Amino acid sequence: MHKVDFEMVEMTLDVMKYAIGRLTHPAPELGKPKKEEELKALVGETITPLGIGGEKAFNLFKDELLKATVPIDHPRHLAFVPASPTKAAVMFDLVTSASSIHGAYWMEGAGGIFCENEAMKWLVSLTGLPSGAFGVFTSGGTAANLSAMVTAREYWRKNPDNRNKKGIIITSSGAHSSVKAMAKVIDCDVLLVETEEEMTAKALQEKIASLDPLERQRLFAIVATGGTTNAGIIDDLWGIGKLCEEEHLWFHVDAAYGGGALASEKARPLFKGLEKADSITIDPHKWLFSPYDCGAILYKQPELAKEAHSQEGSYLEIFNDEGARGFNPSDYQIQLTRRVRGLPLWFSLAVHGTDKYAWAVERGMELAQIAGELITKNPLVELVRDPSLSCVLFRRVGWTAQDYRGWTYKNHREGFALVTPTKYKIAGKFETVARFCFINPATTQEDIAMILESME
Ligand SMILES: Cc1ncc(COP(=O)(O)O)c(C=O)c1O
Repeated sequence: MHKVDFEMVEMTLDVMKYAIGRLTHPAPELGKPKKEEELKALVGETITPLGIGGEKAFNLFKDELLKATVPIDHPRHLAFVPASPTKAAVMFDLVTSASSIHGAYWMEGAGGIFCENEAMKWLVSLTGLPSGAFGVFTSGGTAANLSAMVTAREYWRKNPDNRNKKGIIITSSGAHSSVKAMAKVIDCDVLLVETEEEMTAKALQEKIASLDPLERQRLFAIVATGGTTNAGIIDDLWGIGKLCEEEHLWFHVDAAYGGGALASEKARPLFKGLEKADSITIDPHKWLFSPYDCGAILYKQPELAKEAHSQEGSYLEIFNDEGARGFNPSDYQIQLTRRVRGLPLWFSLAVHGTDKYAWAVERGMELAQIAGELITKNPLVELVRDPSLSCVLFRRVGWTAQDYRGWTYKNHREGFALVTPTKYKIAGKFETVARFCFINPATTQEDIAMILESME
């Protein structure tokens, strides 16, 4: 298995040929899921005592299994939060794998971690966080949010009065599900400001004022959102940041999706107040064109994260020696062994320069405006709210929830587009509506027009 032989070289060439073909394809086939039994019937037994050989395994993957996957970078994949990694980033993901670098400790990963840190410096510079702020790349937004929440909780528990208390976090109902899920992981309660629109400082203040004295003691963090997943809405970061300062609460901003927009100088004023955050989540695998998986957590005071996350063990002690000392990403988030997953972002930034990133995120926001205009002109559809960041919510006049589902499945079945419905609270009631989220700058106005036509 570890020998270099003719078969291995052939397999490498096959893989490279596939990768080149995939990278240069403008709109790869939009695959659809199949039932597990159907997939099994198509490929048969693949794990056997003697192996089925590289050629057969790869062909089964390419010819059968890949067709049951959706290429997230398809220009008409506008569902959930799509992605659109740059070619340079994807190529460097191959290089990252081929280089087998351990990304937890400087001792083993210095060259790779150096690159990650260069990309991180750029990311930090976009946020306005004060000097000394820094961060690390994580497996995604969920892991970044968890890493921040653990840091916040440990900081709060430095006070011996809080050591045995169960914490409380306040966020809004528009916050991402991972915030609520990760609160379970750290066993703290979550209270919600009931809004899917912008969480304002006033609404938050009212929520805090409604707590009884014991609950107030248990409250240790506020999670605001810098671009809700459903609608691209940015909370009142300035007002909430100020309130957190006054109330001595940890201020976390989940900008996993929206944070990519910071690459554009024009969009940065939308995030006024972000610089007050104690921690910020930004996912390069969403709107900064990195391949999965690459999230990031940034801290105003990274030393607090280090206190919370550093692991100790007799076999890890060598990392404290002079010859091995350096920046250890494992000290700042929940994971020990890690891929240097910021490397593809670094390479792509180095190749293209940050201006191209600004252009690409601005194109996403422009596509949302274009979609808004097309919707406004079309009597069959109506905007539910003005486009925000790169999200557009709209209704097809007269449709039921079932109609939206049927439309999604039909477009997907035909390999045309993947656009899924969502629910949005309008006048106190949830309504099923259609949703676009633009990430891929290769999506065209014509793509949008064709999708709207498919609703006729
Ligand atoms: C605002 C927000 N936070 C967190 C997440 C979770 O990120 P991940 O799926 O990378 O764990 C998402 C995912 O869409 C998100 O939009």
